[in-house]
Amino acid sequence: MFEEHALNASLHDRAGFCCGVPELDDYLHRYALQHTRKGVTTVHVLVNSKAPHVILGYYSLSAAQVDVTQLNERDQKKLPRYPVPCFRMGRLACHADQRGRGLGKILIGCAVERCLQARKQVAAFALIVDAKGIEAKRFYLHYGFTACADSPMTLYLPLG
Ligand SMILES: CC(C)(COP(=O)(O)OP(=O)(O)OC[C@H]1O[C@@H](n2cnc3c(N)ncnc32)[C@H](O)[C@@H]1OP(=O)(O)O)[C@@H](O)C(=O)NCCC(=O)NCCS
Repeated sequence: MFEEHALNASLHDRAGFCCGVPELDDYLHRYALQHTRKGVTTVHVLVNSKAPHVILGYYSLSAAQVDVTQLNERDQKKLPRYPVPCFRMGRLACHADQRGRGLGKILIGCAVERCLQARKQVAAFALIVDAKGIEAKRFYLHYGFTACADSPMTLYLPLG
């Protein structure tokens, strides 16, 4: 059974994680805990309950904002002309051995659910992501994300 947990240095084997994108591996190995402690991000990992130390995938979330002009016309019309409060999923990755088994889908679902819970306390219009490449962008488009007007590798998903 899959379980999602906050990254924990004494429980999770960060060094064993490999998604094949050096920047995303390096982040988990070296920076994720530091950034968590500094309060600039939260990092959650997906594990199998039978091997709870093995990280199968992870994502990070932070508060963010986007200029309203970056949204499509339909979304702009709903909103005041202020910077739009959002959450940012700065990183998302699955272990290279686990691709195509639905873990990316589970991780996106967990991240969206966490954002929906958080926005009951602090408002946010959308979840923003930064695609690290064209394949990652296709993945996000598949889930209904829309590219921002001036930065097409940044995409957003309204949470309403
Ligand atoms: C992107 C990534 C997270 C996808 O994870 P995954 O576990 O392989 O994806 P899943 O098996 O959960 O696929 C879920 C759905 O997305 C689709 N999908 C997966 N990768 C896709 C892609 N590159 N383009 C379009 N659709 C894609 C699948 O077909 C599946 O569709 P379905 O639910 O309609 O059948 C994974 O490939 C990864 O970790 N890549 C390296 C890191 C990376 O690029 N991260 C992106 C953030 S920068």
